[in-house]
Amino acid sequence: MNESPKMEKLVSFCKQRGFIFPSAEKYGGLQGFWDFGPLGVELKNNIKKAWWKRFVQERGDIVGLDSAIITNPTVWEKSGHVEGFSDKLVECKKCHHRFKADDLAKMEKCPDCEGELTNEKSFNTMFKTFVGPVEDSTSTAYLRPETAQNIFINFDNVRQAMRLKVPFGIAQIGKAFRNEITPGNFIFRSREFEQMELEYFINKKDDEKWFKKWVDDSFQWFIDLGIKKENLRLFKQPKTELAHYSKATTDIEYKFPFDKGFAELMGIANRTDFDLKSHGFEYRDEENKTVFVPYVIEPSAGVDRAALAFMLDAYDEVKGGRTTTTESNKEVEVVLRLHKDLAPYKVAILPLSKKEQLAKPAQDIYHDLQKHFMVAYDDVSSIGRRYRRQDEIGTPYCVTFDFDSLDDKKVTVRDRDTMKQDRVEIGDLKNYLEEKLD
Ligand code: GAP
Repeated sequence: MNESPKMEKLVSFCKQRGFIFPSAEKYGGLQGFWDFGPLGVELKNNIKKAWWKRFVQERGDIVGLDSAIITNPTVWEKSGHVEGFSDKLVECKKCHHRFKADDLAKMEKCPDCEGELTNEKSFNTMFKTFVGPVEDSTSTAYLRPETAQNIFINFDNVRQAMRLKVPFGIAQIGKAFRNEITPGNFIFRSREFEQMELEYFINKKDDEKWFKKWVDDSFQWFIDLGIKKENLRLFKQPKTELAHYSKATTDIEYKFPFDKGFAELMGIANRTDFDLKSHGFEYRDEENKTVFVPYVIEPSAGVDRAALAFMLDAYDEVKGGRTTTTESNKEVEVVLRLHKDLAPYKVAILPLSKKEQLAKPAQDIYHDLQKHFMVAYDDVSSIGRRYRRQDEIGTPYCVTFDFDSLDDKKVTVRDRDTMKQDRVEIGDLKNYLEEKLD
C-alpha cells in the first residue's frame, strides 16, 4: 500500500526524533512490527495514562484488569474466533503474493505482476504457538487477538471480588496480535499492537442509552486531548459488515492521510450477551431477585492507532522559520502541537551557555523538576536551535537559565504554542509549571 507524502514525512520524523523505529531494522525489519523509541514510549504511556484516568480512576463503576496474553485455547473456541476470526485472502498464481480480498476492490489481476488470482479463501488471523515442550494439536494456543475475551472470562472473579452491581465495567490495556494479511500505513495496521478496551455490563433494556453514551464519551476523549473536531467523524457500520458478536457498531474515524480519507480509529460495539452466554456466565440481581445475562457495550481503541492520529493532528510545519532567523522564507520549522498531557517531555532546561557558572544551577533546577515531570536538558548549540528541537518533539515549556538568573534568581519560561515568555522566580517554578500543565 502506498503511503502519502504526509505519512512518509511522519515515518521519517518518528525515526529521526526517537519516536518509532522499524523493528529489527538491522536485519531488514519484520513487516507489521515496530519498536517505540524513548519519545514514543513516553507518548504511548501518556495516552494510556489519560485513558485510564478518564475511564477508570475518575469513575466509581469501572475497575481494571491485566490478564495473560496466552490463555486456555477453549476461550477462543467459545468466543467464535477459532472458527470466524478470519479475513478473505487471494493469492497470485504467478508471484504467489497474497492480498486481502477487500483491498483489491474486485481487481482481477495481481497488482504486482498482473498474474492470475486464485479464488478467495479464509485465512484465520490469530497467531498460533505451543505451550510446553510438545508441539502438537493438544498444546496449540493462541496469542490473543483482542484483550476483551480475558475480561469476559474473568467476569465472575472481578464482580465477586469487587462486589460490583450492573451497570459496571472492566477495563484493560494490553498487547493484541493479529497475523494481518496486509499490515501497512506505518503503525495504523500492524501485527502486534496495543488495545485499550472496556467491557461495560448492562441490563439489556438499557442498551441503546449506554451505546450512545459510550460513543459520545469516547468521541469527547479524543477532542479533550486536542484532536481537531473536523478530523473526526462517526461511521455506523452497515449490518453486513458487523463482527459476528455485534448487534451494532459505530466507529470513530480519523481523517488519516491515506485510503479514502477517513479510517477507523476506534470502535464502539453492542456485543449483546453473546460473549457472556458463550462462556456460560449469568448475573443475579439481588435487589430485584432476577437472574439474567448482561449485555455488553464495548468501546475498543488501539493505542498505536491513537498515537498515530495524535501525532498527525499535532504535526505542524511553520513556513518562514519562527525560532531562528533565516535568510530564506522557504525554511520550515516543525512544531508538534501535542496536548500537554501527551507530550513526551513537559519541560526542557536550557542553560544559555555551557559555562559551569550557568550549567551548575541549571542542572540543579533540572534534577529538582525531574522528581515531578519528564524533563529534558539540552546545552548543545544556539538557544534558537534548542527551542526548535524542543518544538519538534512537542515539549510545551522551555526554561532558560541566563546570566541575569544568577542575580535575580529568575528564569525565562517560553510557551511552545504562543512563544510568550514569562520571567519566573526559581523558587516558584515548580508551582508555575504544575499550574500550567494541570
Ligand atoms: N474487541 C473488539 C476489537 O478488537 P477491532 O475493531 O477489531 O475490535 C479495536 O479492534 C481497535 O483496535 C481498532 O479500532 C484499532 O484502533 C485497533 N486495531 C485493530 N487491529 C489493529 C491492527 N492490526 N493494528 C493496529 N491497531 C489495530
